Amino acid sequence: MARQTIRPARSISGALSVPGDKSISHRYAILAALAEGRSEIHNFSPAADCHSTLECLRRLGISADIEKERVFIQGKGLHGLQAPKKKLDAENSGTSMRLLAGVLAGQPFASTLTGDASLRRRPMRRVIEPLAQMGAQIRARDAEFAPLEITGAALHGMDYVSPVPSAQVKSAILLAGLFASGATSIREPVRTRDHTELALAEFGADLRTSGATVRLAGGPRLAARQLAIPGDISSAVFFLAAALILPGSNLQITGCGLNPTRTAILDVLATMGAPISLVNVEMHHGELSGDISISHAPLAGGVISGPLVAQLIDELPMLAALGPFTEQGIEIRDARELRVKESDRIAALAENLRNLGAKVEEFPDGMKVEGKSAGKLLGAKVDPHGDHRIVMACAVAALGADGNSIIHDSNCAAVSFPEFFNSLDQLLER
Ligand code: S3P
Repeated sequence: MARQTIRPARSISGALSVPGDKSISHRYAILAALAEGRSEIHNFSPAADCHSTLECLRRLGISADIEKERVFIQGKGLHGLQAPKKKLDAENSGTSMRLLAGVLAGQPFASTLTGDASLRRRPMRRVIEPLAQMGAQIRARDAEFAPLEITGAALHGMDYVSPVPSAQVKSAILLAGLFASGATSIREPVRTRDHTELALAEFGADLRTSGATVRLAGGPRLAARQLAIPGDISSAVFFLAAALILPGSNLQITGCGLNPTRTAILDVLATMGAPISLVNVEMHHGELSGDISISHAPLAGGVISGPLVAQLIDELPMLAALGPFTEQGIEIRDARELRVKESDRIAALAENLRNLGAKVEEFPDGMKVEGKSAGKLLGAKVDPHGDHRIVMACAVAALGADGNSIIHDSNCAAVSFPEFFNSLDQLLER
């Protein structure tokens, strides 16, 4: 397994563009496969997760060619997918599995979706139940876990009130809704990222959003598109945090996604005292993007709880690891969901931050990481438990520690950000 040594750094400065947004890449790839004609997608994410989606689509008879950061997908229309000869392997990607479950539920053939050991432990009932209500037939281990054996069926639209604030659940239902008779609506307890809605509209679906309810008409004709994907704000956050930890830092992240359902992290950091500014804001295919500038400043810290949790679910590992660098520390509550991500992120963060010398209290639904008064971090060994966001969050915290840290299994960053350690190295001053 690969290892990285992280040496303490003085500052991080310069400009970088982070990889294309992972969530948007999955959606454009899937919808391009269901559209008529050849789509061209620029700045497609290099994340292993998105390549899992492309590989599954290939097994369904779709040709997807990659040329540098561009992907060309030959769509076969809503009814053009072919029965796969082998299992579809989503590897580490919850988004691939849950979104494709929605697509496969309405196909005239059987298929099996599986994944790596981490994904086979993650909850799937949240998509199985609503899809079953639409007429899908899905068998899972203990009615909860992958592999998912999906026997395609004729689906009917429904009005669903989701108990979980999850963009993946919403997206699975909407994608199934494409194949359903009548209309499908879903209401969420908290508004989650809306990339599926924006992408569906872009490809020509008939979709309406009113408050927290989305309504989609079944059976549209989707048309191929030329699309460009902005940088992934959930990858940018590691660099924003590095700038906040290291004195003298001054950083610009160019062409980053600024969809308002994803920017809660910027609001939270700004409220804690981070000097953040946005310029060159543009809109493409319904998605906002722009350049984010940040410089070092002392951070107050604070409590993250309630509806905010769903809006910055992927940024919580980095926020927790910022705790030791803040005045009051960081407390996270109402975030039990973190325990069923790629790892149990609460346990993995508590273990690694404690190893680095932080004072951490763990709760069933979150954690409290003490601020600066608990002392400076010390270089240590980091075990990310195979989780890309844990490895990046802890590597950034280690930059502000005294002494070197050894990051084990550092390659797991490739699940969302293969060039993470190289990009970091290029911008650090020691
Ligand atoms: C995602 C939704 C979120 C997020 C994940 C990506 C998506 O998951 O944590 O990294 O692309 O829809 P949940 O829907 O499970 O909250």
